Amino acid sequence: MKFTSISTLVLAAASTTMAVPRRIRDLKPLELANISASIPFTTMPTTTIFGFSLKDPNTNIETKCSSYWSAGQAGSKSYNCTDKSYQLKLFNGIYNIEEFDFGVARADGSPSGRSTLKGESWKCTKGDQEPLENCHWDGIFHLDIAK
Ligand SMILES: *[C@@H]1O[C@H](CO)[C@@H](O)[C@H](O)[C@H]1NC(C)=O
Ligand SMILES: *[C@@H]1O[C@H](CO)[C@@H](O)[C@H](O)[C@H]1NC(C)=O
Repeated sequence: MKFTSISTLVLAAASTTMAVPRRIRDLKPLELANISASIPFTTMPTTTIFGFSLKDPNTNIETKCSSYWSAGQAGSKSYNCTDKSYQLKLFNGIYNIEEFDFGVARADGSPSGRSTLKGESWKCTKGDQEPLENCHWDGIFHLDIAK
């Protein structure tokens, strides 16, 4: 009797282990190319045009995303990409073109990504004339996505 109940326990433990679902396949980061931001006009309010080409290696969808944001507008805004199943998000507007937060979300609510553009690869040049400032990302930017 005792032996039976122990082996039943062992069996139960073994089948529990086997029932644990396999780890969900990791999602690959989104690949953003040709990221650029510029302050095109000398006139107020300060406006920033920001955009990039997006490739989602998980779906193989390629699209383009861009935003047009002026100081004084709501900080948190969403912009449809050319493929409307993707959206570009600004969380706090763009007050400092050399360092700002953005995100990419899926319209269906699947995992999205958020990051900050700054640092050595974010190359900015300033001018006295239009455009006042221009920044671009050197290379492909990998945007991790998560729930
Ligand atoms: C990036 O821009 C260059 C020059 O405009 C263009 O040739 C290239 O196809 C673009 N890359 C992507 C991934 O859109
Ligand atoms: C984005 O696309 C969706 C679906 O077509 C539409 O309902 C929504 O109004 C669009 N948003 C903007 C800001 O254009």
